[in-house]
Amino acid sequence: MKHTSHPPTPASDWYENAFDLTRGIAAYTGSPLIDGIAKVIARHPDADIANAFNHRQVACKLWARDTLLEAAGKSYKRIVVLGGWYGILSAMLLEDCRFEIAMAESYDIDASVEAVARTLNATFADRFRAITADMYAIDYASLDADLIVNTSCEHIADLRSWLALIPSGTRVLLQSNDYFSEPTHINCVESVDAFADQAKLATLDFVGALPTKKYTRFMLIGTV
Ligand SMILES: C[S@@+](CC[C@H](N)C(=O)[O-])C[C@H]1O[C@@H](n2cnc3c(N)ncnc32)[C@H](O)[C@@H]1O
Repeated sequence: MKHTSHPPTPASDWYENAFDLTRGIAAYTGSPLIDGIAKVIARHPDADIANAFNHRQVACKLWARDTLLEAAGKSYKRIVVLGGWYGILSAMLLEDCRFEIAMAESYDIDASVEAVARTLNATFADRFRAITADMYAIDYASLDADLIVNTSCEHIADLRSWLALIPSGTRVLLQSNDYFSEPTHINCVESVDAFADQAKLATLDFVGALPTKKYTRFMLIGTV
C-alpha cells in the first residue's frame, strides 16, 4: 500500500481551514451565531474566539439559557450583559426562537472586544448593541433593563458593591466558579452557597451548580 506523508501545514492555513469549516457548519445548521464566528475568524484573526466558544463555555451558556427560560420566562424588552466579551451569550439568546427579546446589549471594559462582538452579532444588528464601559460606571436606572446578566462574577473584585448599583427589584442572572488556578479569576467561590452568600439577592428563582472536568460553575437567578 502506498504511504502518503503530509508536509508540515503553514500556520496561516489554520485560519483558512477554520473559516471554511465554520462557514460550512453555519450553512449546515443555519445558525447565525456560527456564521458570526466564521466572520470573526476572517475579520478579527487576533480574537481569542476558540477559547470563548470552547465546549465548556458553551455548556455553561446553554445551561444559563435553558434555566433562564424555565425560571424567568421568554419575553424581555432589554437584556443587559456585563463583561459580555465577544457577545456570545447575547447571540445565543437572540438566535433562540423560544425567546422574544427586543434588545440585547453587551458591555465590556475591554475596548478591543466591541468590534468583535458586533461582527459576531451582525445578523442581529437591529436587536444588538456592543458598548465599551466599566460595569461600575453604568447608570443602571437609566437603562431600564428587565434582565441583567453577569457570567463573569469571578472576574470582578467586589460583587456586592456592583449589585448595589442596580435598582432593587431588577432580575439578574449571575454565574461564578471555583476555577481558582486561572490567574485572571480574582473572586472565585468555593460553593454555590458561598456564591449566594456573597450576592445576597433579595429573591431567588434558581440556585445551582454545573460540574465540568476542570471546575464547577455556579448560577443564581433572582432579583436584587
Ligand atoms: C474572560 S471574559 C468572560 C468569562 C466568562 N466565563 C464568560 O464567558 O461569561 C470576562 C470579561 O469581563 C470583562 N470585565 C472585567 N471587568 C470588567 C468591568 N469592570 N466592567 C466590564 N467588563 C469587565 C473582561 O474584559 C472580559 O472580557
